[in-house]
Amino acid sequence: MNYNYDFYKIPGDFLLEKFGEKPEIGIILGSGLGHFAAQVKNAVTVPYSDIPNFLRSTAIGHAGQMIFGEVSGKKVVCMSGRFHSYEGYGMEELTIPVRVLKALGIRALILTNAAGAVNVSYKPGDIMVISDHIKLMGVSPLCGPNVDELGPRFPDMSHAYSPKLRKLALRLAESSPLTVHEGVYFFMPGPQYETPAEIRAIRALGGDAVGMSTVTEVITAAHCSLPVLALSVMTNMAAGVLDVPLTSEEVIETANSIERPFTEYVRDIIANI
Ligand code: HPA
Repeated sequence: MNYNYDFYKIPGDFLLEKFGEKPEIGIILGSGLGHFAAQVKNAVTVPYSDIPNFLRSTAIGHAGQMIFGEVSGKKVVCMSGRFHSYEGYGMEELTIPVRVLKALGIRALILTNAAGAVNVSYKPGDIMVISDHIKLMGVSPLCGPNVDELGPRFPDMSHAYSPKLRKLALRLAESSPLTVHEGVYFFMPGPQYETPAEIRAIRALGGDAVGMSTVTEVITAAHCSLPVLALSVMTNMAAGVLDVPLTSEEVIETANSIERPFTEYVRDIIANI
């Protein structure tokens, strides 16, 4: 497969024709956080399976559709269903969603995810505005020929998580009932949850939360200069913090339990971007 500029433009043009206009903001919804899609007014929904050069969703708790419409008076495009490396996609394939959203002309990207709390002062149901990440494992989604039209061979990552959007999210947290922290997301490829020893290592290395998504999207967005706001929902304490096994049911349950305030919080952020 030749992942050149036109490869991403084809699905972009296809979607623009379906939507009839350009979205301003893109949103990728994490595990158990797909209900946000119901907030989209005057929705035009396109299943991933209809989109040329796109991927199919396989993960639990992910619907697999692109939804265009209005939230808080802004035109948004919402991806309900994301793609993870543990599903078996090649890293290059994982560039597709963000590059297609970029091709639609968005000016900001909001990412949400479910994550395990490594920082023991965090609690399940808390939110973490991601300030930075650590990814020590797995190759970069930018491996392979560089797409020069999108960005440089060696992109800067020092402002990958937009300082302006982080500041906005922290300010708006003051009027939300949610407890919102700011911290470092540690990427682990999964699909198995981490071992207690891995979590101790992650904590020693500076991780506040751990998860299996988001980072490939952020790297792809940084490459094409797309400002990102990433929000992690602490769905569980990470392995070994409590003496209980981790389950995907617990992850979905906690995500569901904060649905209302989290939806309000994200709506408020969109209104102010
Ligand atoms: N580890 C990795 N990914 C996760 C976790 C976790 O504890 N919780 C939700 N996603």
